[in-house]
Amino acid sequence: MNASAKSKKPNTPLSGRVQTPGDKSISHRALILGALAEGTTEITGLLEGDDILRTADAMRAFGAKVKRLGDGRWQVTGRGERGWRTPKTPVDFGNAGTGARLIMGAAAGYNIKVSYTGDASLSSRPMGRVLTPLRDMGAEFDTKTDKLPLAQTKGGKLVAISYTPPHASAQVKSAVLLAGLNTEGTTELHERSLTRDHTENMLKAFGVNIVRKPREQGQIITIDGPVALKATKVKVPGDPSSAAFLIAAALMVPGSDIIVENVMMNDARSGLFEVLNEMGAFLRADNYRRSGGETIADLHVKHSKLRGITVMSDRVPSMVDEYPVLAVIAATARGTTVMRGLGELRVKESDRLTGTQKMLRANGVDATIDGDTLSVTGGHIPGGAKVKTRHDHRMAMSALILGLASEKPVRIDDASMIATSFPRFFDLMAEIGASLDIS
Ligand code: S3P
Repeated sequence: MNASAKSKKPNTPLSGRVQTPGDKSISHRALILGALAEGTTEITGLLEGDDILRTADAMRAFGAKVKRLGDGRWQVTGRGERGWRTPKTPVDFGNAGTGARLIMGAAAGYNIKVSYTGDASLSSRPMGRVLTPLRDMGAEFDTKTDKLPLAQTKGGKLVAISYTPPHASAQVKSAVLLAGLNTEGTTELHERSLTRDHTENMLKAFGVNIVRKPREQGQIITIDGPVALKATKVKVPGDPSSAAFLIAAALMVPGSDIIVENVMMNDARSGLFEVLNEMGAFLRADNYRRSGGETIADLHVKHSKLRGITVMSDRVPSMVDEYPVLAVIAATARGTTVMRGLGELRVKESDRLTGTQKMLRANGVDATIDGDTLSVTGGHIPGGAKVKTRHDHRMAMSALILGLASEKPVRIDDASMIATSFPRFFDLMAEIGASLDIS
């Protein structure tokens, strides 16, 4: 069901302390590894967004026992040696690219037939990037377009491969590694640019001997299969990609001063924070601590006068999901922010490169695209437009953040997708003093 929403300049500065919701990437992985493992995995802080609930349902369909015990507290009893079983009905990933690609990788290791579907956005996204290495390993799929809906027609008895993904993608890396768990021999993945390493870290926590060797360019990751996973406890840290919207709001509304608590500080995810510091943001990380195998911190953010900078393409893997909101922040900076190497944004939940430019232009901001480069020149933001969000949660939230700094309100056609990654977005924004209208 579509619900439109609107944001406008708050009358007073934003203030207060907020808890960041659980990390989406880690939440998917906790459920999937829990369902592969022998024994019962206890998860706390799980993100209860729609994408994750789809993954929980998928794990049930493959035969794991998945129970919600309370707010963010979940228990997964995995299949262990019995292996995943054939789901009775098609597995529906909804809007979730991460769920889709990781689960297709893990399921390829089993001798089962599975049909997969997703929503309109996910069905337009490329799945060939995971099907190609899985086919190289011996899995077979019924699909004409390498897009959803598609079916695994043969899995199990895979052969170990050495694979170098053509794109920097943690999803592709993870799909190959998860398939490698149930494959005889050494599965080797050469990653040219380092992407988020949650799969590697969590496999270690589940007792897998996964080896990472740095190379001149990137790293080589190896797994000797088949290997059994042992259930463990997972504490999910706060999602830096969700924190980004709260941080953006505080940077853009004059006089604001907020603390965003429990944010994961992982080098493979913190690119935005570094860029904002280079732009002159008051953004301080305090109270560093270890939690659930990751470093977390509380981020203190104050409204700041920012300057435009050039963000080179080597930043992309560490902030791939943050460009729409960075472009919104750039609309308030002095000068031009040039963001290079954004080709991958075209294949996210929507074409975020074109979508970001359209959102900004419709609201009177100077934004241009040249190849894979987006340039945004900051200044006065007239606002007043209704933005099409195209089934994309991050585009929806980015547009609403823009409206906090524009002269006229910004509207979005559909806020429902926000629940895929950040179900409490409207509540947390209200907690810091930005009340957004939803109708
Ligand atoms: C993710 C990897 C990234 C990111 C996505 C989450 C993950 O996708 O955009 O939101 O959890 O592995 P790619 O692997 O396509 O870059």
